[in-house]
Amino acid sequence: MSAETIAPFLRNAWYVAAWPEEIGGEPLARTIMNQPIVLFRDAGGRAAALEDRCCHRGAPLTHGSVVAEGIQCGYHGLVYDRAGRCVRIPGQERIAGEARVRSYPVVERQQFVWIWMGDPAATDEDAILDFPYHDQPDRWPHRRAMFRIAANYMMMMDNLMDLSHLGYLHARTIGGSGLAHSTAEMTVERRPTGVLLTREMHGMPPPPTFVKAVGFEGPIDRRQEFEYVAPSAVLQWASAVDTGKDLKDESDPGGFRNRLFHGATPETESSFHYFWSAAIGYRTDEPQAVDEFFQEVHATFLEDKAIMEAQQARIALEPDRELVAIRADNAVVAARRHLRRLLDEEGAVQSIAAE
Ligand code: FES
Ligand SMILES: [Fe+2]
Repeated sequence: MSAETIAPFLRNAWYVAAWPEEIGGEPLARTIMNQPIVLFRDAGGRAAALEDRCCHRGAPLTHGSVVAEGIQCGYHGLVYDRAGRCVRIPGQERIAGEARVRSYPVVERQQFVWIWMGDPAATDEDAILDFPYHDQPDRWPHRRAMFRIAANYMMMMDNLMDLSHLGYLHARTIGGSGLAHSTAEMTVERRPTGVLLTREMHGMPPPPTFVKAVGFEGPIDRRQEFEYVAPSAVLQWASAVDTGKDLKDESDPGGFRNRLFHGATPETESSFHYFWSAAIGYRTDEPQAVDEFFQEVHATFLEDKAIMEAQQARIALEPDRELVAIRADNAVVAARRHLRRLLDEEGAVQSIAAE
């Protein structure tokens, strides 16, 4: 792997800013790429994101409150609309044009609140990834959560694109046998938006989570797809059936299948907000089935959080020291290369603009 373990930020991209239910009647503080941001909903219920710094005396707007016209600073009462324009100054008629704060483009779609952190002129809503399962609760019931993780955001992408950790870090939960994972048939394919990793395993013992979910009794065949979508999301698709059955037959009631979303939104160079959701495609009419799966996965992801934070602490001591790649890293290397290309392109555009 390159020395770039601590990945820089790609600015012209969409990131998950929040789950929709996090944004309500109170201002929500969230730092993204070292920029303090306040999220709130306007009177029409539309999510908005502004710089969390009042233009008057620099107080954080998150100390204020949401009002009919937008958000009101809690210090001297200036009010800003969703575009960041100051629309009210108590005791003053005229409002100067420079009385404003930076606003960020926000799109709420498929139960994500996406934010654009780069040049507003380059905003492209068509570039937002598609994850339709959140909007199909009957077919794909899901639960979701967010953790703050004290590690560089790309460590999460590395984690998800190298599943050989499943049999070790997660041996007691979703993992199953370590060797089965390390010897899985893998294909790595470049996509216009990232990298697709596919893994298949045949005739392996079912991990405890799968047995709990659908009651496997004998060996299973397993297929997983992990699609890295740059800069920092992974879409996960999994399926498992009794050995010999068709892995692609979604109507088999005895099969195990799920769809997961993982998004790592950089907070700083050494921390990120981990947004994840888990949808299941079995026992869809039993709410406890999705709850059980969520609890299992939650415990597993806390194992990932613990190792990544420990890893970050070590790497931060010598951030430029080379790491050694193994066979299982093919997809990690491809994902890192993809991001590097995008960073180079963005850097080239910025340097032309600066000339
Ligand atoms: S600092 Fe916000 S109104 Fe004065
Ligand atoms: Fe993991």
